Amino acid sequence: MSESLLTVAYIAASALFILSLGGLSNQETARRGNLYGIIGMVIALLATAAGAGVSGGGYAVLAAAIVPGAIIGAVLAARVAMTSMPELVAVLHSFVGLAAVLVGIASYLGPTSLSGTELTIHQIEIYVGVFVGAVTFTGSVIAFGKLRGSISGKPFIMPARHMVNLAMVLGSCYLGYDFVAAGHGAAHPGLMPLLIMTGIACVLGVHMVMAIGGADMPVVVSMLNSYSGWAASAAGFMLSNDLLIITGALVGSSGAILSYIMCAAMNRSFISVILGGFGTDGGAPAAGGAKTPQGTVTSVEVDEVAERVKDATSIIIIPGYGMAVAQAQHSLSEVVKILRGKKKDVRFAIHPVAGRLPGHMNVLLAEANVPYDIVLEMDEINDDFPGTDLVLVIGANDIVNPSALDDPSSPIAGMPVLECWKSGNTIVMKRSMGTGYAGVDNPLFFKDNSDMWFGDAKKNIDALLSKLRG
Ligand code: TAP
Repeated sequence: MSESLLTVAYIAASALFILSLGGLSNQETARRGNLYGIIGMVIALLATAAGAGVSGGGYAVLAAAIVPGAIIGAVLAARVAMTSMPELVAVLHSFVGLAAVLVGIASYLGPTSLSGTELTIHQIEIYVGVFVGAVTFTGSVIAFGKLRGSISGKPFIMPARHMVNLAMVLGSCYLGYDFVAAGHGAAHPGLMPLLIMTGIACVLGVHMVMAIGGADMPVVVSMLNSYSGWAASAAGFMLSNDLLIITGALVGSSGAILSYIMCAAMNRSFISVILGGFGTDGGAPAAGGAKTPQGTVTSVEVDEVAERVKDATSIIIIPGYGMAVAQAQHSLSEVVKILRGKKKDVRFAIHPVAGRLPGHMNVLLAEANVPYDIVLEMDEINDDFPGTDLVLVIGANDIVNPSALDDPSSPIAGMPVLECWKSGNTIVMKRSMGTGYAGVDNPLFFKDNSDMWFGDAKKNIDALLSKLRG
């Protein structure tokens, strides 16, 4: 393929990636966005394979890497449960980090025609790319272990850990000076500082993520997503590949924006997440002594729930992680169809960190064909609870916990939540009085205008569906 055709293909792929990101920002256009991304990636792969960089035996090497990789990726993606998606994402980030390390080292070991300032810039690209890649690689492996539960979610706090991190960063800077000063001769004089820095960066990645507690892992995964983008971008500079630079920058900046949005949704500052030390491995309350909820718990059964649903004219449904576990979205969609058929105002309220991954609830509701226009973000609907007759909370807990707003000693104090207790009546569907992801008791369950409907969300919604049909 000629150089100019390759450039055109790369520009087309870049444009498709940008359109893809634009599409993914809205649930109505998300499918189209995904399609743009797939087409962009196919164009990028074909153009790169047809480019001047690959010839003869290179095709066999490419096929040997791409074919098994594509098969393993497809099988893994098809098998993974939605609730395990963050783990899969963490593993994929580790691959990007490892690839940047290998490309960087190979780039240094290979011949170069550069000299003077250009050579210095090239060496800085290699050094920075390998550093970011190594931190991303080991950080993502630890994040995977924590999300999977094979490594404790408790923050691992070493004495003077910030000083240790600072020493590692300063040591890497010093070695970077050594690496650039050594140059790029045939004897690879800078290899030793490069490899020592790679080892230090790997330890830094482990240490940084080990210090971050389970409750902050979603932010960490999106932060590592951002790092993996910058690592890919650095690899693009090393390989003089414009498409890789653009794609890496898109992933890097969108990951950074997502981390920011998630920090705001959990009321955590980005710096405090990176510095670590917050959160638990689930079950037990995190740091701080939240008040024990007071009051009595009232429970209801399906007949009572069906009556209240029939009496209500405005209903808001709040789905959470439990809906995903129970896979109750399809039955719920049927219930919503019946209620809307009876001219009731039924809407969904989606918290930004409901479930276990960004957009988790939106994906499940879209899969069950719930109309997009009745699925509203927290900011769009939070003021509407006072005028609402009935709220159905389906397997959600932390995102409807009033202590986030009125108990400063609560570990989730300050996190914006869906203020459903301001409605006429709230019915909470879950199996027990157990806590959610943050391990915090929920005073909502004890409020006078709240009732518990115990049981598996799918079984309960199915029972409600037969009552409504009957
Ligand atoms: P949670 O607070 O985790 O609560 C989910 C509730 O679902 C549990 O209390 C559980 O209670 C119930 N449940 C589980 N299985 C059920 C079933 N089969 N039927 C009915 N109920 C069931 O979930 P949430 O309210 O969605 O909040 C999300 C939490 O996860 C936040 O703390 C957030 O920070 C964190 N987080 C979010 C993300 C992202 S990016 N969304 C990623 C990681 C972590 P029972 O055991 O009593 O049934």
